[in-house]
Amino acid sequence: MRKPIVAGNWKMNQDSEAAEALARGVVEAVGGVEAVDVVICPPFTALERVAGVVEGSSVGLGAQTMHWESEGAFTGEVAAGMLLTCGCDYVILGHSERRQHFGETDETVNRRLKAALPAGLAPIVCVGETLEQRQSGVTEDVVRTQVTGGFDGISGDDASKVVLAYEPVWAIGTGETATPEQTEAVHAFIREVLGQLYSDEIGQAVRIQYGGSVKPDNADELFGQANIDGGLIGGASLKADSFAAIVRAAL
Ligand code: PGA
Repeated sequence: MRKPIVAGNWKMNQDSEAAEALARGVVEAVGGVEAVDVVICPPFTALERVAGVVEGSSVGLGAQTMHWESEGAFTGEVAAGMLLTCGCDYVILGHSERRQHFGETDETVNRRLKAALPAGLAPIVCVGETLEQRQSGVTEDVVRTQVTGGFDGISGDDASKVVLAYEPVWAIGTGETATPEQTEAVHAFIREVLGQLYSDEIGQAVRIQYGGSVKPDNADELFGQANIDGGLIGGASLKADSFAAIVRAAL
């Protein structure tokens, strides 16, 4: 059985002090939950402080991106080893906002994945189509290309350690949620693609989160779908009580 995973992507919100307070709220509410992997992903600047808060609880810590090189002249970038020493267990890769605004491509997502895995970070790799792509009927092609490009050269063993997040771009931060049926269909399709790239077993083993306007009142129905293994939560992860309610929906 796949263990559900619910991750909070705080994006560019919460200075260190606010992050620490929010992390405390999350730990108080769901810091003892074992049946769901709970992860929070603050901005880089708050990682160390939040690491101190989640220590000793079941809440994991993640970063929102990383560079593929281990050090060097890459102004503004952060390497996997640096994230590990800040206490990170996870890293989000290829979020659609990184793809849209910061030029990330399947190829650079793949490079990051190839650096994160051997470093021992658990990657959460995001894929998903834009509204235009959905309307022109190419959702499956887009997602297939993203998964195939992202996993290029990754062994089956490593692939099964990756968490995928299916996030239709048109549902992120818009209040528009993909229906549970639309989402379930894409999740099942992603398993098929992984099955073709690796094996049915790996296709069934990889955890696939849904992301895009998940709220306490729609989480139950989404997480109730057979192929949805939790969620990547943006806006609703910025309040401990709504994030905790979403975590409970995955129990
Ligand atoms: P949202 O963001 O929950 O605010 O739609 C999700 C995400 O971008 O990961």
